[in-house]
Amino acid sequence: MDWKEELRSLTQNQNNPSKLRFDESLSKHNYFGIGGNAAAYFEVSTVEELTTLAQMRRRWNVPVAIIGRGSNLLVSDAGYSGIVVRLIGDFNRLDFDQNRVDVGAGVSLPRLSKLAASRGLSGVEFALGIPGSVGGALVMNAGAWGSSFGDLVERVEAMTEEGELIDLSRDDAQFSYRHSTLKNYFCVTGTTLALTPGDAGEVENRMQDLYNQKITNQPFAEENAGCMFKNPSGYSAGKLIDECGLKGYRIGGAEVSKIHGNFILNLDSATAHNVLSLVRHIQDHVKRERGVDLEMEVQLLGF
Ligand code: EPU
Repeated sequence: MDWKEELRSLTQNQNNPSKLRFDESLSKHNYFGIGGNAAAYFEVSTVEELTTLAQMRRRWNVPVAIIGRGSNLLVSDAGYSGIVVRLIGDFNRLDFDQNRVDVGAGVSLPRLSKLAASRGLSGVEFALGIPGSVGGALVMNAGAWGSSFGDLVERVEAMTEEGELIDLSRDDAQFSYRHSTLKNYFCVTGTTLALTPGDAGEVENRMQDLYNQKITNQPFAEENAGCMFKNPSGYSAGKLIDECGLKGYRIGGAEVSKIHGNFILNLDSATAHNVLSLVRHIQDHVKRERGVDLEMEVQLLGF
């Protein structure tokens, strides 16, 4: 038996929505629309399956990557030689209890944002325009308009490398700008957020205003992975790239957005190689002209 056979047997005769595919193109599972095949692609719906995966990873030494909704991800043209996992089913839980919400890592940020607003709960209005998952937002401490996901966290539920579920406090997660220590665990499975009670109409208006600002200032029609670079301390990466005259600069099918300099668009069947060549060109140019190092925010898979 090899790991593929074990995976197949794990999902056979299961009465749940989990889905397993081999040699699956990853380009349809990320917002860039780029990337080669995964050896296996597994939509996992139960904690038991996730525990088995954690154990299989150690037993077979097979790489496993959890991809959230693929909104902040660049996948290599060669794909990924292990198991790519997306959380569905039980990981889509969303339970409100007064001003708290217990939410699974698979829930999309726009869904969380809309449901919280409809109950008059403030805190996640900024997330309507971020097409990621709660799990990804925790690990990356996603944010916009001065708010970050980590600020709302009371506890995080994560799975260890051994496949055991544990509870972590906000301090354990050590949230900072677009960073946390949650990457050190096998997988983040959910969180409890503390929101602030308010008036549903006001929260909904604020959520809509932030969304409108986003679609005015950032590209949204073309395939992209959000901001490509972190903002260096004291600078806006987009503004630096704009001031260096790089908007509209193109390599192959990848182009720097003409609306916001920190976005790279897949305009015409761009490859991951095109995107990374453009990233390096931007980094070299900004370093030469402005003396600033730009660090990638978008996560890489399969490189
Ligand atoms: N600007 C330019 N030219 C550009 C882009 C921006 O002059 O091409 C100027 C703007 O006019 C503004 C300033 O730079 O005066 C800052 O721009 P913006 O308000 O768009 O914010 P940002 O720093 O570029 C950050 C986050 C975004 C988030 C926005 C809104 C990072 C890397 N980016 O962008 O997050 O949506 O604030 O709060 O932290 C992301 O993380 O994927 C992301 C898109």
